[in-house]
Amino acid sequence: MKGIILAGGAGSRLYPLTLVASKQLQPVYDKPMVYYPLSTLIENGVREFCLISTPQDLPKFAQLLGDGKKWGISIEYREQAKPAGIAQAFLIAESFVGKEAVTLILGDNIFYGADTFRKAFAEFQSGATIFGYHVHDPERYGVVEFDAQGQALSIEEKPKNPKSNYAVPGLYIYDNDVLDITRNLKPSPRGELEITDVNVAYLKRGNLRVHRLSRGFAWLDAGTSSSLHDASAYVQTIEKRQGIKIGCPEEAAYRAGFLSLAELQELAGKIPNCEYHDYLNQFVAEIKRQQS
Ligand code: DAU
Repeated sequence: MKGIILAGGAGSRLYPLTLVASKQLQPVYDKPMVYYPLSTLIENGVREFCLISTPQDLPKFAQLLGDGKKWGISIEYREQAKPAGIAQAFLIAESFVGKEAVTLILGDNIFYGADTFRKAFAEFQSGATIFGYHVHDPERYGVVEFDAQGQALSIEEKPKNPKSNYAVPGLYIYDNDVLDITRNLKPSPRGELEITDVNVAYLKRGNLRVHRLSRGFAWLDAGTSSSLHDASAYVQTIEKRQGIKIGCPEEAAYRAGFLSLAELQELAGKIPNCEYHDYLNQFVAEIKRQQS
């Protein structure tokens, strides 16, 4: 399955932070924001990536992430000239997707907890799989309504009167029909190719699965200065308490089997002396202890 990371947009709500570096390059505690969605997909076995961003920001992402080889993955880069909608990503990345299934993750979505995604990725065969997450302010998101059996009945983008409290987070899995569906989309009144319209198309075909994310699962928003701060505080709390890192691509790549322990150790050795370096060395030592 191919993976698209969409990391464009104006980032205007974070001004002046975003004057020099885009939203998805901002730090969330101890890592750049884009490390988190990248690690989420790596953990779920995605190995080939296309990162889409603005012409100004793309070189900075390439500087940060490179071609992915050191993590046992590949990353290519494509420009989105204007923020014309999340679904436009499929048109931009069409030749990258080829004939395969594809997952799209928003570069500012941070997920933590449980194995919900693993199951969804492992079970995925065709159609579309999206998620539902209980929030107090559903009107800010795509909102999914369920029937008594838990089947999705409707999906609406930022409804004034939401039919449920379940928001659709920015992680989507589609079969190759998504390319055709997107080619036939019309821009919404706000002038965007809406990801919700893609999901509605799958719903109409009877081919949409919605997994509800459990209560213990965290989906963090980092789109305003305040929520960016909250996300950092959340990550810091978990990392300090548990002694683990969230959103560490090196660790995710090892766990996904894309890097051997020896390769991970070599990689850690190249990182300058810092807490991140110490963490990876401790991680390698712990695995070695478990294996002996
Ligand atoms: O976060 C999940 C929500 O994301 C979903 O529940 C909604 O259904 C979906 O429409 C989207 O809602 P937003 O209106 O909050 O999306 P926003 O325009 O803020 O864009 C989300 C991210 O995607 C943001 O980091 C910028 C990036 N983006 C967005 C657009 C429209 C792009 O890179 N290019 C684009 O053209």
